[in-house]
Amino acid sequence: MLRLKAMSPHELEIVTNLTQSISEVNVSALPHPIQYQGSKRHLATRILEHFPDDVQTLYEPFAGSAAMSIAAAARGVARHFVINDLNQPLAKLLQSMVENPQATSDVYSAVWAAQGEGPTQSVAHFNVVRERFNQTQEPELLLYLLARCIKGAVRYNRDGLFNQSPDKRRKGTLPKTMQRNIFGISYLLKGRSSFSSLDYRRAIEGANEHDLIYMDPPYQGVSGERDGRYLAGLAFDVFVESLAALNQRGISYIVSYDGKLGERVYGQELPERLQLERLELDAGRSSTASLLGRDDVTVESLYLSKPLTQRLSKSSGAKVPSMQPDLSTLFPSSYDAETIEAVH
Ligand SMILES: C[S@@+](CC[C@H](N)C(=O)[O-])C[C@H]1O[C@@H](n2cnc3c(N)ncnc32)[C@H](O)[C@@H]1O
Repeated sequence: MLRLKAMSPHELEIVTNLTQSISEVNVSALPHPIQYQGSKRHLATRILEHFPDDVQTLYEPFAGSAAMSIAAAARGVARHFVINDLNQPLAKLLQSMVENPQATSDVYSAVWAAQGEGPTQSVAHFNVVRERFNQTQEPELLLYLLARCIKGAVRYNRDGLFNQSPDKRRKGTLPKTMQRNIFGISYLLKGRSSFSSLDYRRAIEGANEHDLIYMDPPYQGVSGERDGRYLAGLAFDVFVESLAALNQRGISYIVSYDGKLGERVYGQELPERLQLERLELDAGRSSTASLLGRDDVTVESLYLSKPLTQRLSKSSGAKVPSMQPDLSTLFPSSYDAETIEAVH
């Protein structure tokens, strides 16, 4: 039983829900403040099945909404996290949510409330916030834009300016829900995560054989073309060479790469010479296919590196709960270690 005298009822509710989600390892109930197209939150449980139980540091160099770091932290399968995305405001947003949850959620609440009630007023407000974001790159503004824009899908124009439109039918995540999600990821990741916005190759330079790298690069733009869905595309050949270099260093890694919608294949298969084990994950019915009246199912590939499959075959498969986060990282201002009698 958890006893935190200094917590407000709202804070207590967040902790109670979180400890419950974690003890039940209910990954789908985990906090996700960032709406992000391509987020792996729905596949996280199945991807986690291929994580070893002794990860020193989990590297997520194409973090996006950091879905796998959040899930791995909740499962207690990694001690430290390196969270990187080339999109600098996005990486800074993740950092400020984890390190300064109160301040970040206060800014979100204020920006959200200022949109007013009527659709015309709120669309105008979105456009003003979008313009301010394009001028200042303030991470907290991106949180509101992602919560309010169509399908949570970032879109950038040729000049790298955010140009996605608002979803006129919704107002974006309620501030109270957002606060719960922000404090949730802070609880899971604070004090054991580092954040950067580097090219993925630099972000993973420090990895060693005790670590795991989870990579979810943009699907398209594989030939190096511009990809308006994210801030940058990715050159396929360069990516393949980076994987070959990781093989030589004996690093465990997982790549989410190509996919299939019905018979149509997206992305280029990774070459055999990399000696990867390729698995197919059923990612459910695609919303695009449903709209077109088709029954196609999206299948996503997951590639496992040889050092990883060797490591998995040696491990017992038992997860290590001792790596779960320390409650002292949550609500530091209202918290005193002596007020906790026990957790759970
Ligand atoms: C498919 S999304 C990742 C989604 C993520 N797995 C999630 O759960 O939200 C790919 C991400 O890679 C980032 N990115 C693109 N090129 C990159 C590069 N060269 N280095 C690092 N990140 C890059 C994009 O900004 C985008 O956020």
